[in-house]
Amino acid sequence: MTRIAIISDIHGNMPALEAVLDDLAGQAVDEVLVGGDLVGRGPAGSKVTKRIRSLGFPAIGGNHEDYLLDFRRGKVPDEWLDADEWSAARWMAAELDDDDVEYLACLPFSIGRPGLRLVHGTPATNREGIGPWTGDDEMSGYWGAVEEPVLVCAHTHRPLLREIEGGLVVNVGSVGLPFNRDRRAQYAIFTSQAGGAWRVEPRQVPYDLEEIFEIYETSGFQAAGGITAQLLRMELEHSTPLLVPFLEWAKVLDVTPTAAQLERFLESFQPGQSLREFFRRLRQSASA
Ligand SMILES: [Fe+2]
Ligand SMILES: [Fe+2]
Repeated sequence: MTRIAIISDIHGNMPALEAVLDDLAGQAVDEVLVGGDLVGRGPAGSKVTKRIRSLGFPAIGGNHEDYLLDFRRGKVPDEWLDADEWSAARWMAAELDDDDVEYLACLPFSIGRPGLRLVHGTPATNREGIGPWTGDDEMSGYWGAVEEPVLVCAHTHRPLLREIEGGLVVNVGSVGLPFNRDRRAQYAIFTSQAGGAWRVEPRQVPYDLEEIFEIYETSGFQAAGGITAQLLRMELEHSTPLLVPFLEWAKVLDVTPTAAQLERFLESFQPGQSLREFFRRLRQSASA
């Protein structure tokens, strides 16, 4: 019997990572794999990176590794270098040291174990995720690229267990920034069964949000990160997306996404509201 824990989307949240590591200490797992997004959307990317490295956990890269590495390499559009909405990303990229950058740049796209394949988003890209909204055709399409019967992913920050013909998709959720209205740190343990199948146990670990908010303050992230840091903090409080809806809202209304617009945005968007519905109404009213 083999037990593998898969943790993902830590997003520079050290208190959440430490809570998961404490929980793992009692779980008798043989191995821990990391599904990407160690950094980005949070203040302690360097500490998280060094902790994962020192533990020797095999890890893959997520889209947020790519974003911050692009900043470090100057491969971003000029306007990202001074726009308020990108100040948090600039700060997070600068917070990584050269060792972190070198390590993150070498993370593979995917890791396989017997009967199990780990990717960050989908087998095709780390910038899109698999959720309840993913159609059956799209799902079956993924199987062309995957030999193993269990596909493990993350990126959406929403845990998911979905059986499809000949396979099982497991989204392990997010350690550091859940979006399913459950603020506990999320991960999953996979136990091998006779015949090569895997049994899945999703886990949720409570921790004190005040600890991560304190790091927001003491690290300088809150002060430097502008509107983005403010919205990320709200995302932690509500365990639901706010940053992307805000940026999308600003784009549709053609306003600059600054702190001055936040109140107006929150008049039309309630945390936890269906994003699909929000964007549908937004586009309808913008084109009316
Ligand atoms: Fe993520
Ligand atoms: Fe991601």
